[in-house]
Amino acid sequence: MTMQINFLPDDITVNAEVGEPLLDVAERAGVSIPTGCLMGTCHACTVELDDGEVIRACLTAVPPRQDKLIVHLFSDPTW
Ligand code: FES
Repeated sequence: MTMQINFLPDDITVNAEVGEPLLDVAERAGVSIPTGCLMGTCHACTVELDDGEVIRACLTAVPPRQDKLIVHLFSDPTW
């Protein structure tokens, strides 16, 4: 199943497969999600989904729940 991922604030949309790692999707989109540990502990990669859910991108695959997912990147410079 293919769905669209829309990255904000850059407003870049790419197609992604359900189950694809979110970091891979972001890389393909040319969007850089900051990362550190890649193991879910440092929270550098935290992003927010359109339903307000805050997730760590390094632990997250594209969820099979809707045909479009909006991902808000935080731009906190302390990360
Ligand atoms: S890169 Fe550290 S929590 Fe994702």
